[in-house]
Amino acid sequence: MRILSGIQPSGALHIGNYFGMMEPSIRLQDEGEAYYFIADYHALTTIHDGAVLRQNCQEAAIAFLACGLDPEKAVFFRHSAVPEVTELSWLLSTVTPMGLLQRCHSYKDKIDKGITPSHGLFAYPVLMAADILIYDSDVVPVGKDQKQHVEVTRDIAIKINETYGEGLLKIPEPRIRESMAKVPGLDGQKMSKSYGNTLDIFGPEKQQRKKVMRIVTDSAGVEEPKDPEASLIYQLYQLFADEASQATMAEEFRKGGTGYGDFKKRLWEAYWEYFAPMRARREELLANDDYVQQVLSDGAEKARELASTVLGRVRNAMGL
Ligand code: ADP
Ligand code: TRP
Repeated sequence: MRILSGIQPSGALHIGNYFGMMEPSIRLQDEGEAYYFIADYHALTTIHDGAVLRQNCQEAAIAFLACGLDPEKAVFFRHSAVPEVTELSWLLSTVTPMGLLQRCHSYKDKIDKGITPSHGLFAYPVLMAADILIYDSDVVPVGKDQKQHVEVTRDIAIKINETYGEGLLKIPEPRIRESMAKVPGLDGQKMSKSYGNTLDIFGPEKQQRKKVMRIVTDSAGVEEPKDPEASLIYQLYQLFADEASQATMAEEFRKGGTGYGDFKKRLWEAYWEYFAPMRARREELLANDDYVQQVLSDGAEKARELASTVLGRVRNAMGL
């Protein structure tokens, strides 16, 4: 089984990214041949400052390694180190119906958020299809908001196969961990960088603590019984605590006698402790830039080898 996923280096990674995409991908590296990349070509649709992009890529790479991506198991690289994907993207675009892209909600969402509607932003799903198809990927672990893009990828691959020969491209499957499909943000909406409601994986301690302690709650008094399921504090706590601790907190919610401030403190501690080993590993990696660069260049070499084979197959079938 070949597993492929990517993440855009578009800012600090948060726990929605972690539970929705990074942790499931890292787990899957034990189950097959994994290819993971930092999607810098995609990030160009929103970041137009070279120094910022370079810095974000470095941070995203370190974050992924710190969280457990093992370069002995997974091929890890920067998207732009495999320029073959841009050629495949063009080849795919020649059979991609306009209507398919017009239906993509992420384009509309991004424009609503004020991102400039460039051709690249509109054509983004075709490049994403190329990212996936160029490695003959079987499985694509992503968060729920990327599901439509994987469906578009399947449609494009089917169209190519109908046009140029069955079996030319492998049809991939999305892998969505339903229980983590939508990690809520600190305001209760979906957690997202663009909503400013994130709890970051590696944010500064004081700032992240403040964010947790400022979670807005209802006005139930200390003594009143409370519904854990309706509480954002409990929902987030479940991501970090073991089952026994979750049961204890749920019971205390129902019983009354504990205030939200106490629950927030426990959420804070569970979150901070959960990422402690990753923070330590990140510090080591920050001091070892040569190692990180070596991992990415070794990964790029392997990825490129496979990508050129698949691209060659498609070029040939198309008459180039
Ligand atoms: P953001 O919304 O913060 O810009 P991205 O769109 O860059 O995040 O998402 C990167 C990956 O993380 C995708 O696979 C996405 O589905 C996943 N993801 C992002 N936010 C969440 C969330 N709140 N819950 C679950 N998965 C998420
Ligand atoms: N579009 C994804 C995101 O915004 C990142 C991405 C690019 C990706 N290419 C991919 C994810 C291929 C999975 C497979 O998060």
